[in-house]
Amino acid sequence: MSFAFDFEANAEKLVEFENFIDIEKRKKGSLMSILHKGQHLFGYLPIEIQQIISKKTNIPIAEIYGVVTFYSQFSLIPKGKHEIGVCLGTACYVRGAQKILDEVTENLGIEVGGTTPDLNFSIQATRCIGACGLAPVMTISGDVYGKLKSSDIKGILDSYREREEVNN
Ligand code: FES
Repeated sequence: MSFAFDFEANAEKLVEFENFIDIEKRKKGSLMSILHKGQHLFGYLPIEIQQIISKKTNIPIAEIYGVVTFYSQFSLIPKGKHEIGVCLGTACYVRGAQKILDEVTENLGIEVGGTTPDLNFSIQATRCIGACGLAPVMTISGDVYGKLKSSDIKGILDSYREREEVNN
């Protein structure tokens, strides 16, 4: 799934970003701070943004892509409005977290690390979040759900879908 970058909607942010690059590129080792700024401004670092960085800094696009894909704080796709984390720490794993994760990915029709085409949900597998007594655990937009069964997942996800419908 690819997400086209919207230049028009991001016009103001692009001006801010390009100004930032112009100042920052004079400093040694500035690529990381430029990437952090881009991730913060746009929520992800699509190829269009990497091309702008490459053109302005003369850093080869392959090098930029290598850094973006190496560090987990950078993302090539936008995050969903609701970020889901399914804990795969030991306590959760032995209590069936993989089944929970499978149920969530199947329900949303995306892989771990993916975002739904409507940008409503994205999903990550996480390490222990310190709520092992509630294992298996899932978080959605900061809400914690514990002692989960696969059969709980549809209802929980639907409740977030309904919130979107009410808000629209
Ligand atoms: S292992 Fe999942 S919360 Fe600790």
